[in-house]
Amino acid sequence: MDTDHWASYYRSGALVSCPTNPEPYYTMEVREAWVRFFTGLMDGDRILDLGTGNGPVALIAKETAAENSCYFDIDAVDRADIDPHRYVPRGAHLLEGIRFHGGVDVEALPFQARQFNAVCGQYILEYTAMDETLSECARVMKPGGSCQFILHHANSIIVRNARESLRQAELIEETGTIRKFVEYCQRGTGETADAELARKAVYATGKILQARAKSSANPLLLRFVIDSISSLLARRSQLSYDEISAHTDELSNELQRWVQRLKDLSAAALSEDQMNALVNTAEANGFFAIVSGEQYQAGTKLVGWRLIMFRGS
Ligand SMILES: C[S@@+](CC[C@H](N)C(=O)[O-])C[C@H]1O[C@@H](n2cnc3c(N)ncnc32)[C@H](O)[C@@H]1O
Repeated sequence: MDTDHWASYYRSGALVSCPTNPEPYYTMEVREAWVRFFTGLMDGDRILDLGTGNGPVALIAKETAAENSCYFDIDAVDRADIDPHRYVPRGAHLLEGIRFHGGVDVEALPFQARQFNAVCGQYILEYTAMDETLSECARVMKPGGSCQFILHHANSIIVRNARESLRQAELIEETGTIRKFVEYCQRGTGETADAELARKAVYATGKILQARAKSSANPLLLRFVIDSISSLLARRSQLSYDEISAHTDELSNELQRWVQRLKDLSAAALSEDQMNALVNTAEANGFFAIVSGEQYQAGTKLVGWRLIMFRGS
């Protein structure tokens, strides 16, 4: 799987890839679940964070150690080309001491056997070949080591929002929004019938998108496109056609990468049956005392599955 669409997101500096709340980092029950997990570890333990992205879970591990006046030795891997120290605001300080490794498949970890006391990851295991990933986890973990994953749930608010955003992306595609805007700019500002037609087409499409955004509980993707085009419209007289073309190309590319991330997310989400099958796979890979359940945020907001387990000897 190509991961440029993830890497470009991480270059934007956002800490969390699928926020469970309006804040740009994990809070409340999700953070508490991680703090509890890391609090159970010992001073000096080695932790491996899988599919780390810009490192929000590894950061909670580091913060938990500091709160308990201890130290964890943390490695964090991702298939995408990541560099959280560089791209996260204040990342060099905030994430100091965490070793990030980009270009790493979790199905083939570049670590020797029996190295880690704990393996963790949020919204990662379900994106991967889970049997192979769990086999690798078992290989690199010390006997008795602990594992915690938070995974996408097919009915979670995050997955439902992603599906709504994908429908909005389809509407943008079907209405030819970006193409119509480019045509309008190409025809110039003259008073010709052609220019008038192109102008009407842009405004009619704009109305459709605005109405949909108004009725949506999660209009983020639509708002991004509407705002981007509105801003170009406002600056239209100051920009050459080539400049507008370059901006709309970048908008299309950004939209494509966003849609690809949403498709990954939506395809990864696990139903209850799939979660039960995952528990069996974990058992088959030598994990024991496996506990799985739904993960909520702010009391009632379903944000995923949680899986806790230990590596056998
Ligand atoms: C939804 S993001 C989660 C990032 C981070 N854990 C967070 O909570 O923000 C999923 C990540 O998994 C990574 N990924 C997907 N498949 C992978 C694989 N087979 N091996 C390593 N990383 C993978 C992607 O590059 C992406 O960064």
